[in-house]
Amino acid sequence: MQKVIDKNIKGLNGTVTIPSDKSISHRAVMFASLAKGKSIIKNFSKGQDPLSSLKVCRALGIDAQFSDDLIIYSSGKLSTPITALDCGNSGTTMRLMSGILAGQNFNSVLIGDESLSKRPMKRVIEPLTLMGGEIQSNGYKSPLKVNGKKLHSIDYVSKLASAQVKSCILLAGLYAEGKTTFTEPYISRDHTERMLKYMGANICSDKNTVTIEKSELEGKTIEICGDISSAAYFIAAGLIVPNSKIILKNTGLNPTRTGIIEAALKMGGNVEILDKKTVSGEEVGDIQISYSDLKSCIIEGEIIPRLIDELPVIAVMATQAEGTTVIKDAQDLRNKESDRIKAVVTELQKLGADIEETQDGFIINGKKALKGNAEVETYHDHRLAMSLFVAGLICENPVSINGFEWVDISFPEFDQLFNTLTL
Ligand code: S3P
Repeated sequence: MQKVIDKNIKGLNGTVTIPSDKSISHRAVMFASLAKGKSIIKNFSKGQDPLSSLKVCRALGIDAQFSDDLIIYSSGKLSTPITALDCGNSGTTMRLMSGILAGQNFNSVLIGDESLSKRPMKRVIEPLTLMGGEIQSNGYKSPLKVNGKKLHSIDYVSKLASAQVKSCILLAGLYAEGKTTFTEPYISRDHTERMLKYMGANICSDKNTVTIEKSELEGKTIEICGDISSAAYFIAAGLIVPNSKIILKNTGLNPTRTGIIEAALKMGGNVEILDKKTVSGEEVGDIQISYSDLKSCIIEGEIIPRLIDELPVIAVMATQAEGTTVIKDAQDLRNKESDRIKAVVTELQKLGADIEETQDGFIINGKKALKGNAEVETYHDHRLAMSLFVAGLICENPVSINGFEWVDISFPEFDQLFNTLTL
């Protein structure tokens, strides 16, 4: 689907309730499937990625019904699937499920779409193999044939700060004899640790190290907050579209995810947290944003895993910031749904941005008026589609975005919610 942005926008104004968090939705459906009893999941995401996790859990024999909420009944045990488990476009589904499946008493096969089949799986296959797991792959890419084995614990020190790798090992640790520990260079999102604890697992964290022991989970009610990664497009748009003032309700504010707010503040953005509370073990609040004169900054090191998915839209913000913004230590952006370093640079240059690719990030010279008058590509990548939409809002001429339907992977409500704000 092609989306044309030619609105001559005079500002964005109003209040939006941010839809459900994708990362937490994946975990909720998976962990409820592993837990004994009834779980009630409130505000489950309608994105295609979490729906892939739901589909995989159903193929493993789980009874999951939608009413207003997603209701899951489980005996705490999965059953042998009769078909390959289709993870669609979702790396989170494939990597977390590989950890769950490695310790089962049956074999299974995980498959994905064209983009997912190109993504690296060595990062999970290697540690799972050290735990006694047996995973056959296509040169460390999917399909993954997971032969269920009795697992043993490991002390794993990861070179990557990755919540998907961490979660995979912790989930395998749920089934392994002994204490499994996982250490990462910087802390990545910790939804797995929080939710497993809430559901009764024997798990504890100390700085960048998490320890888990073999545990049984119990069914719970889980209320999922809004996704700060979805809020990021409204934060960026509110900051760079003149005359804007937006309030974002019910946004997740887990400190392992709030790098985007810290980056926006560092750039001089008017961003304010209006109200903060804790829901189902996660911090949640309302965020107010208004148009700002942004300045450049350097984004590197420990903050990277806390804003990894927001870097494409931060690059868009940086085109409107006075000075040179440098983003580094983000080489794993090349392993996402697309090579996001190359894709962002290629497409923003088409719109007139002064942006250059480095091996591990971007260098962006602002403040630069974006001319637009171009056709841009999304590379089958939802975050590219939404970032280019935000860039399109400030272009002087129309922009056509090819493959805009990919937004449905995480944020099917995106277009409709933006339309409620335009003046
Ligand atoms: C995710 C972790 C991140 C992120 C992805 C979702 C998760 O990936 O980019 O969109 O839900 O655990 P990595 O762990 O590969 O950095």
